[in-house]
Amino acid sequence: MTNQVSICVLGSGYVGLVAAVCFAEIGHRVICVDNNEAKVNMLNEGGVPIYEHHLPELLGKHLNRGVEFTTNLAYGVEECEAIFIAVGTPQGSTGSADLSYVEAVVSEIARAVNGYKVLVEKSTVPVYTNEWITRCMHRHGVEPGTFDVVSNPEFLREGTAIGDFLHPDRIVVGANNDRAADVLRSIYAPLTDGSYFAKSDSLPGPLSQENPAKLLVTSAQSAEIIKHASNAFLALKISFINAVSNLAESVDADIEDIAAGMGLDSRIGPKFLRAGLGYGGSCFPKDVAAFYWVAQQQGVDFQLLEEVRKINATQQEIFFNKVRSALWTLRGKKLAALGLAFKGDTDDIRDSPAIDVIKKLIAAGATVTAYDPAAIEKAKGVLPASESMSYAASAYEAAENADAVLILTDWAEFAELDMVRLDQALKFPIVIDGRNLYKPAYMREQGFTYVSVGRPAAYTAQQGKPKRLVLS
Ligand code: UGA
Repeated sequence: MTNQVSICVLGSGYVGLVAAVCFAEIGHRVICVDNNEAKVNMLNEGGVPIYEHHLPELLGKHLNRGVEFTTNLAYGVEECEAIFIAVGTPQGSTGSADLSYVEAVVSEIARAVNGYKVLVEKSTVPVYTNEWITRCMHRHGVEPGTFDVVSNPEFLREGTAIGDFLHPDRIVVGANNDRAADVLRSIYAPLTDGSYFAKSDSLPGPLSQENPAKLLVTSAQSAEIIKHASNAFLALKISFINAVSNLAESVDADIEDIAAGMGLDSRIGPKFLRAGLGYGGSCFPKDVAAFYWVAQQQGVDFQLLEEVRKINATQQEIFFNKVRSALWTLRGKKLAALGLAFKGDTDDIRDSPAIDVIKKLIAAGATVTAYDPAAIEKAKGVLPASESMSYAASAYEAAENADAVLILTDWAEFAELDMVRLDQALKFPIVIDGRNLYKPAYMREQGFTYVSVGRPAAYTAQQGKPKRLVLS
């Protein structure tokens, strides 16, 4: 039997909404607060503002049973013992995280406190934010001893967020005393004692009653750093393989074989070694910059992170140049762009390499017709339809009469295109793949000129391999 905890989640973005619904799923009572009234109304009617597997079912299962949505922060704070702060921490002008939303909600929490509360940092924040929250609470007259601040970073990925939350690799709790740590232990008990996985309607995944979740308790500062360091390390892996891909390409080696060969070493592992257009999204770019800034503030020269960022930015330039050299000139060319989201399985376009590449192509005089299974509506906000930008309802419609197809996002459906249909739609059979979704030999067999990342390009007999131009 779950020891039910009353949990208030502040913010209903990716992290807040997923956490709120999942806490209800593991048996807690949850009040999710957001100051966006339209969003709260939508959620109360069962509408889901983000594209996320399992979220609609879980929301339907728990709405007005385990979880309720409100704009009333004071109500949430008064009713609950644990208050999860999951508001945005966007990138500020210096690369540091902008913590003004965190400060604003902490001030409001302070005004509503009516007993012992555990304030939990769920948003990604720089080290020592726990101390600032504590100081802010004191400044607003909240007595020491009536609250604790805990860091409980979230490691979920967009698209698989619900599965990541309920079947986590690890749960990290950074608490500076036992009382607060125990509240977090109770909250996660159904996952750490395995009782959640024993339920017949639990979400299937890698964890089970016999193999439940691991919970690591450490100091608040260490937990804050674990989050930044984990994201920065994953970004580093991606930049590393991208740098190797450029080397591979210049010596006609194959980055996919190289990544497989490296990944078989259990110390390295195969994950996050996919070369391509580089990382995007709302987390890696922001967190690499913020972690670099944090180190600088502490007098630590973490230049490596600056290199990670530079390599990532260069990947898009390199891809853009590939498109140009495959097509000779860009002005007046009609291109089909497959993908707008920053990765497959999401409608999120924040810091999407796909969007950046499309903007560059349009600036160079090309016209682009884009297709994405989920992100078109969001993309229209930053790339409105115009003479040079249009949207299609399928990959084949986008390819109609185009000079080439560009694969910009790793959606599963882009890895299973019908090449005969694609060939019929296109003006020229050219595919430039920024996500390495196909094998060059297969594409050659299908009659395509195929340019990808970190692998020798495949040319059809008619097209022939262009001579390397040496520019002086
Ligand atoms: C990332 C982390 O993976 C999560 O653990 C973390 O909780 C989250 O940030 C966060 O801080 O909120 P997410 O941004 O959803 O999750 O996306 P990822 O799946 O990590 O992908 C990030 C970017 O890296 C994407 O643009 C993806 O295409 C790219 N990527 C990923 C590669 O280019 N190569 C790879 O091998 C893997």
